[in-house]
Amino acid sequence: MDLSRRHFLEAGIGVGVAGSLGACATTAPAPVTSGMPDWHLGYKNAPAGGFDPAPMKLAFGKAPADLNGSFYRNGPAQMQYGDQYASHWFDGDGLIHRIAIENGQAVHQARFADTKKRREEQAAGAFLAPGFGTLGDERFSVQGPDDVNAANTSVLVVNGELLALWEAGSAFAMDAETLETKGPKAWRDDLKGMPFLAHPKVEPDGRVWNLAVGGEQVGIYRIAKSGQLEDFGLVKIGRAAYIHDWTMTDRHLVILVQPWINENLRPPVVAGFEWQPQHGLQMLIVDKDDFSQQRWAQAPARMFFHTGSAWEESDGTIKFDVVLYKEPILGVGGGAAEIRGEWTGSGAIDNGVLTQVVIPPSGDARLIETDIIGEFPQVDPRFRGQRRRLVALASSVAANRPGSTGITVHDWESGLSDTFNFGPTRMVEEFLFVPKSGGSSDADSWLIGTVLNLKAGASEVCVFDAARVSDGPVCIWQADYSWPLGFHGTWA
Ligand SMILES: [Fe+2]
Repeated sequence: MDLSRRHFLEAGIGVGVAGSLGACATTAPAPVTSGMPDWHLGYKNAPAGGFDPAPMKLAFGKAPADLNGSFYRNGPAQMQYGDQYASHWFDGDGLIHRIAIENGQAVHQARFADTKKRREEQAAGAFLAPGFGTLGDERFSVQGPDDVNAANTSVLVVNGELLALWEAGSAFAMDAETLETKGPKAWRDDLKGMPFLAHPKVEPDGRVWNLAVGGEQVGIYRIAKSGQLEDFGLVKIGRAAYIHDWTMTDRHLVILVQPWINENLRPPVVAGFEWQPQHGLQMLIVDKDDFSQQRWAQAPARMFFHTGSAWEESDGTIKFDVVLYKEPILGVGGGAAEIRGEWTGSGAIDNGVLTQVVIPPSGDARLIETDIIGEFPQVDPRFRGQRRRLVALASSVAANRPGSTGITVHDWESGLSDTFNFGPTRMVEEFLFVPKSGGSSDADSWLIGTVLNLKAGASEVCVFDAARVSDGPVCIWQADYSWPLGFHGTWA
């Protein structure tokens, strides 16, 4: 390692040292759009104690007999203290959900990750920790990234261990059944507190790869299916670009260096980023067997949060799906208006375009844009890193409120898309592929995801057949209550 761990951690975007002090969150309550069911329900706080296990009722259809397992999700669920609202969607405390599905029955439960940030803010009844969009308060001391860790972005299960993920600090180990917090995960003694991105990539055989973002350097984790760290290395990316996600083929890591560059590490983090489109969207391609074997590719300037997955053709051409934005809208705005219940006429994720990036063995990358607006692209876990046809995403923005109304499956081979639109009364979140028993193609999958039913004021878990999305849900389980919108999940 040619850079000390301390230096690396200090260069991380999560080290929000509370230097300049003052108000730390917005305080402008505003009316919710009239004439609509209350979409602000999606941004309300969850109960402080989370949700005890409670059966969900089968509200529609018939549950697939082969769909048995745990559907975990994570997302920010503390968006308000009194009249003070979180100023960025990325800064709410992580609520980790488990929907246990067995023999057609679904049971929901959820717990907040027990972090220093949450403990101190709950005690004070106020937002205190500096964050992605939050300045921070002098009462809150920051010694390192995990002091401000919100553990609010995604979940990963490795060898039965459940981890709540953030992007600028450690993963938090959780009990996979009770959802009690065990604490920050150290993959190796000398990597204690090292960032662990919220978008690890799992190979079909169970090996996990992930990145640690620290300014102009990126750490690479290689973790065995057993959960043991096999390797950790560093590569240089040249700029402190915002890296939320990345992608991987069976042979190469693809690190996307977008032209949204951190030029100032003082909190709030988002204020230090500059959009520098002259750099374009650069991609560092790293050999998985030898991190020193690298090449760069270049695409026009775009901002992104999420990739689907990548694969490699026989001539070395790399293809991957990604949702691209012309500018870093959500990053800058942070969904602050939605958090306050304001509708400004355009949602934070209303402009993301499903795109295929084609990187030839040499020369510039090409962008193949679809006409699909959406977010949270997902692929079949059996084909991660490998050639496949389908990508699914939450799609179809509503005209008079934030969030998606539908789900789309796009086939890159045929160029055809299949969409189901719930209409304006349901807010649609990420959907995951769950392979059907016995099937072999990615169309032989269930798609499982969460939906907020605004009319019923209830959260739902919906299942679709990936081959026939436009037929509508196969089944819907409905809770007796609602929980706030989240980010990402996993199926175990
Ligand atoms: Fe994400």
